[in-house]
Amino acid sequence: MAYNTKRVTEQQLAAQRDYAHEASVLLRERFGTPTAYVETYGCQQNESDSELLRGMLSDMGCTLVKDGSQANIIVLNTCAIREHAETRVFGNIGAFGYEKKNRPGTVIAVCGCMAQHESAAEKMKKSYPYVDMVFGPHALWRFPELLHRRLIGKKRVFAVEASDGFVAEGISRLRDSDIKSWVSVMYGCNNFCSYCVVPYVRGRERSRLPEDILAEIASLAAAGCKDITLLGQNVNSYGRDLDCGTDFAKLLRQVDKIDGDFLVHFMTSHPKDAGEELFAAMAECKKAAPHLHLPFQSGSSRILKDMNRGYTREQYIEKVRLARKYIPGLTLTSDVIVGFPGETEEDFEETLTLIEEVGFHALFTFIFSPRSGTPAYSMEDNTPREVKQRRFDRLLDMQNSISARLHGEMVGKTYRVLVDGENQTGGQDYNLSSRTASGRLVHLKGDKSLIGKYVNARITGSTTWSLMGEVTEETEVK
Ligand code: SAH
Ligand code: SF4
Ligand code: F3S
Repeated sequence: MAYNTKRVTEQQLAAQRDYAHEASVLLRERFGTPTAYVETYGCQQNESDSELLRGMLSDMGCTLVKDGSQANIIVLNTCAIREHAETRVFGNIGAFGYEKKNRPGTVIAVCGCMAQHESAAEKMKKSYPYVDMVFGPHALWRFPELLHRRLIGKKRVFAVEASDGFVAEGISRLRDSDIKSWVSVMYGCNNFCSYCVVPYVRGRERSRLPEDILAEIASLAAAGCKDITLLGQNVNSYGRDLDCGTDFAKLLRQVDKIDGDFLVHFMTSHPKDAGEELFAAMAECKKAAPHLHLPFQSGSSRILKDMNRGYTREQYIEKVRLARKYIPGLTLTSDVIVGFPGETEEDFEETLTLIEEVGFHALFTFIFSPRSGTPAYSMEDNTPREVKQRRFDRLLDMQNSISARLHGEMVGKTYRVLVDGENQTGGQDYNLSSRTASGRLVHLKGDKSLIGKYVNARITGSTTWSLMGEVTEETEVK
């Protein structure tokens, strides 16, 4: 094994359960019936970690509430990917700190990637005295111990030491949904893209054992879960640190054999590692969603090199061609960064032409944000903010028209969709929300009893971001 991955032992977990028990007694003494609130920022990995935090809090006798201002324990699970993400968190910590004045004894914990980010951790130490606990992703599994330490001691608790990372199985989890679930297959990242903070805050790539992943999915499927997303910063490096000969394509094929009516999504795939084996597995596996999230970041090979992405524009386009050969009708989504240091107008034009050439259904678009500790932080960046904003707006306009066109092409067709909840925005006409196998959002009209079920929906209308449809007996054409 190339890295020093530590697997948390059963004894270590048992010790945490003991801490949880002791903490539950202390919490009851202090609060009577303790309540807890967990707020999540950032990506699906953090959503998944928040389910673990809620599971552990529930084990400690806390009732999870949806309003932070009323909670006894407030946990902010933070993100460090862009400066904006951190600014938002600091604003909210300030607000919770203000409220704490009226409710002494409240415990405020800040965890997640920002807590592991050196400069932010320092700032919390110095300027946010009402934050009781700061711990990074590496210390997540020790949350009961850390909370216990805070409850018995006078000192604030900091657990932000650098680490290659751990794999901990068997932590309690309170899932957000019975219909859709996250399943991490690996943690950390080894790619060190020059702009990205993730490898510094999430540690080295480490894979869960296939048997643990498969058992978790089998139990989710048996409980009626309909949609599973396999998570990893680069799922295509799954298994590289294990010596059992597995890889992501093999794992996908094994998941496909698990009984149950569910679909499998995964994210994220790195273009340098996604290839024929993956596409072939996606094509063969009936449960694999016909969707690939393949972040390209820039259309300029020169910028890609400076980003340390490990592929060129041409190689990216070739991967897309190959993927589409194996999976006709594949839906592609991607991430792109505008205004990376040194990006010229010509580089940016190359990003636009790549977007046009590929035709993504949706794009997550970001303006470059310098992160301390990363190589791009100190790269010369002469492009004025207004120029970056103009490029960003142009890109968005182009993508919006592509999304609108691709969604428009779906009108009149029938798709199998999973009804996943009530529609918050569609009003009376479209009271339900659903997703196609490829992840497109479809607003539907129908009875609430359909939630959690697959139905066929005929698409009757479309917008840039979503589709409208009606439930139909018609069989699926897509
Ligand atoms: N592991 C995933 C992405 C994780 S972060 C991958 O490699 O695709 C999600 C997205 O945030 C990235 O794809 C990138 O587009 C964006 N991002 C990361 N760091 C950024 C930064 N410093 N500034 C702007 N966008 C950034
Ligand atoms: Fe960040 Fe690159 Fe790793 Fe993705 S692959 S998490 S962008 S370093
Ligand atoms: Fe995710 Fe943000 Fe961390 S994107 S991995 S929560 S830095």
